[in-house]
Amino acid sequence: MEPCFDARDLRKAFGRFATGVTVVTTVLPDGQRIGLTANSFTSVSMSPPLVSWNYRREALGFAAFVQAQHFAVHVLGQHQLHLSPQFASSVPDRFHGVDLETGLGGVPLIKDCAATFECRQWATVEAGDHVILLGEVLRYMHSEAPPLVFHAGGYLQWPQAQCA
Ligand SMILES: Cc1cc2nc3c(=O)[nH]c(=O)nc-3n(C[C@H](O)[C@H](O)[C@H](O)COP(=O)(O)O)c2cc1C
Repeated sequence: MEPCFDARDLRKAFGRFATGVTVVTTVLPDGQRIGLTANSFTSVSMSPPLVSWNYRREALGFAAFVQAQHFAVHVLGQHQLHLSPQFASSVPDRFHGVDLETGLGGVPLIKDCAATFECRQWATVEAGDHVILLGEVLRYMHSEAPPLVFHAGGYLQWPQAQCA
């Protein structure tokens, strides 16, 4: 039998795990761009090079996104803090004002990130109210930009004061 937890409290417990913040993007066959903020990103495998992130089934873009053959994961730097709420919001165009270039498969790429992974969709795994999307990394870049860090529902300045 499924354990019965208080959802808010469980979310709070999950949120104690500090993560980076990514924006995941793709393009649909009709040219429509999709992008959303995701902190469920993780590196998975070196050979083949795989990454994963989790998409909530009930999200608006879900059905279209899982059909896409390519997607890109952008690891945000601290200087891109504004993009995290923007790509989780209900504004008509989340890409408005974002400096873009075109990547593999026509996927929109956000410039000037801490890292970018251009992926071919490798597999999807059913996982409760989310689906895990695995991508094979076809191309990537990274920079020295300090990372944006998410913890307990807020953004951390990083690095914090050094430990003694
Ligand atoms: C910091 C942060 C991390 C998030 N991580 C995820 C995530 O890993 N997976 C997910 O499905 N939604 C995540 N979300 C929520 C989505 O960005 C948001 O629900 C978005 O509206 C989903 O896009 P869609 O409804 O247009 O498909 C996150 C939001 C924030 C602010």
